[in-house]
Amino acid sequence: MNGSTDAAAGLYEAMRYMVLGGGKKLRPALVLLAVEACGGSADAAMPAACAVEMVHIYSLIHDDLPAMDNDDLRHGRPSCHKAFGEAMAILAGDTLLTEAFTLLATGVEDAAVSRRLVGELASAAGAEGMAGGQVADLAAEREGLRDARLLEEIHRRKTARLIEASVVMGAISARASERLERSLREYGTHLGLAFQVADDILDAVGETQVLGKTAGKDAAAGKLTFVSLFGLEAARERAREEADAAVAALEPFGPKADRLREVARFVVERTF
Ligand code: IPE
Ligand code: IPE
Ligand code: MG
Ligand code: MG
Ligand code: MG
Repeated sequence: MNGSTDAAAGLYEAMRYMVLGGGKKLRPALVLLAVEACGGSADAAMPAACAVEMVHIYSLIHDDLPAMDNDDLRHGRPSCHKAFGEAMAILAGDTLLTEAFTLLATGVEDAAVSRRLVGELASAAGAEGMAGGQVADLAAEREGLRDARLLEEIHRRKTARLIEASVVMGAISARASERLERSLREYGTHLGLAFQVADDILDAVGETQVLGKTAGKDAAAGKLTFVSLFGLEAARERAREEADAAVAALEPFGPKADRLREVARFVVERTF
């Protein structure tokens, strides 16, 4: 995908601005660290690593739109719709989502592996996953819902499912055993929940400068978050519990999963 002489050149510019403009690249790192834990080849997992980040960046672009969280800042600079306009931001998100699947369909040699990667990423991004979670998140905000079970479901769908898919896609790319894939899925589910609880905490206590996105937005918007429902200390405790549960799920791997254990610590101790 180059596009420099294409009539749609602005589309490529907007996608590059968002994909290459910053961010922790946590999800592709998780794909590759899961591959490492399973003893597979990092090269073979690159399509999965890139595809999951493309879906993540699409979700951020749309999440920032005025119709959703209405955020002007992302990765320390104007969010996509601020830099390129709303229509281009919508289309850049659409294109990243679409091209992620092109990559999995054409870039993975083994047809059975390709099919499983497509299925895993699609279900993580779709109605049962991220998109459905975003709908529930906005409904909870709009209707002032305050329910612990709903909050967990929102976080699992909008965030944890894609993080879970990242490690599972690593396992699939490495052709790991069902048992190892199951352990990684459990790690990812807990890690993903810890990650979004930490995101809620950082929104409440972090600084815009360090976060690269507007701090304090959740409270201002009346979002349903772990901080708004349970308070800061209980949210911190829950994030730690989920990170511990994530680490516990890595037991079958021994030292090969040490870097995934480090990620679990990072997720709850991070400041950005
Ligand atoms: C932000 O994710 C959106 C959530 C799911 C909380 P990241 O914190 O991973 O986004 P990057 O690192 O800025 O890309
Ligand atoms: C977003 O959650 C989850 C996504 C699917 C993008 P947030 O709305 O809390 O993410 P930030 O704080 O804007 O990054
Ligand atoms: Mg949001
Ligand atoms: Mg947001
Ligand atoms: Mg947030």
